Amino acid sequence: MADNSPCFVCHANFAEEEIALRHSQLGVGCVDCHGASYAHRNDENNTTPPDTIFPARKIDAACEKCHPKHNAPAKKVIATWQKRCPEKKDAKALVCTDCHGHHRLAIRTVRWNKETRELLK
Ligand code: HEC
Ligand code: HEC
Ligand code: HEC
Ligand code: HEC
Repeated sequence: MADNSPCFVCHANFAEEEIALRHSQLGVGCVDCHGASYAHRNDENNTTPPDTIFPARKIDAACEKCHPKHNAPAKKVIATWQKRCPEKKDAKALVCTDCHGHHRLAIRTVRWNKETRELLK
């Protein structure tokens, strides 16, 4: 079991989230995907991003490091696509987290450009 408690101080809403929870049970914690992120977690102004953040174009590769194959029935995959992200019309635009988990913040107060890591106003 990975110890995600340093992150839950501020990200308590990720304690029950499927991707974070399931992977923590397998020993893969927040820091394995996002880095130890000491500067981020110790910054009381919340202006420093975590060590690793993911623009959409980098998501699949990050997951495929451990999941090189996808063993899922086509019908289930398509049904999930229709349910979770019907706005995406092109399969090429789909990323793992469109169908798996609820690993996105609905509301946020601070944003960074996920490519350049710059703080956005
Ligand atoms: C002191 C509070 C604090 C701690 C501790 C903290 N975070 Fe954050 N984190 C934030 C804030 C604030 C945001 C901006 C999102 C928001 O407005 O809720 C954020 C955003 C993020 C993001 C989103 C980056 C993006 O893609 O835009 C990730 C990833 C993240 N934190 C990972 C972590 C991890 C991993 C840990 C533990 C190692 C951690 N955080 C600990 C406050 C914290
Ligand atoms: C450091 C390795 C690692 C990374 C990176 C990783 N996973 Fe996993 N994941 C695992 C292991 C180990 C399992 C358990 C064995 C299995 O089901 O393949 C697992 C299981 C899963 C499962 C099955 C869950 C269940 O209930 O059995 C899903 C879905 C999943 N991962 C999605 C993802 C997604 C999406 C990403 C990218 C955000 C990702 N994984 C990144 C290691 C990883
Ligand atoms: C369009 C939706 C969709 C996308 C995109 C998607 N998946 Fe899945 N995935 C599914 C469905 C549906 C299942 C089957 C779940 C079930 O049987 O309950 C599944 C099953 C899995 C499993 C468990 C089965 C196995 O292979 O061990 C893993 C791990 C997984 N996906 C990882 C990923 C990763 C990594 C990506 C991105 C490269 C990804 N998925 C993209 C819909 C999707
Ligand atoms: C298996 C790898 C993996 C693990 C484990 C993981 N994350 Fe993430 N995280 C990602 C990926 C990939 C994204 C980008 C998802 C997206 O944009 O759809 C992400 C995005 C985020 C975001 C930004 C969401 C947004 O709306 O911009 C936050 C916050 C975050 N993670 C926090 C955490 C915390 C806290 C933990 C541990 C409790 C954690 N993550 C565990 C891979 C992971």
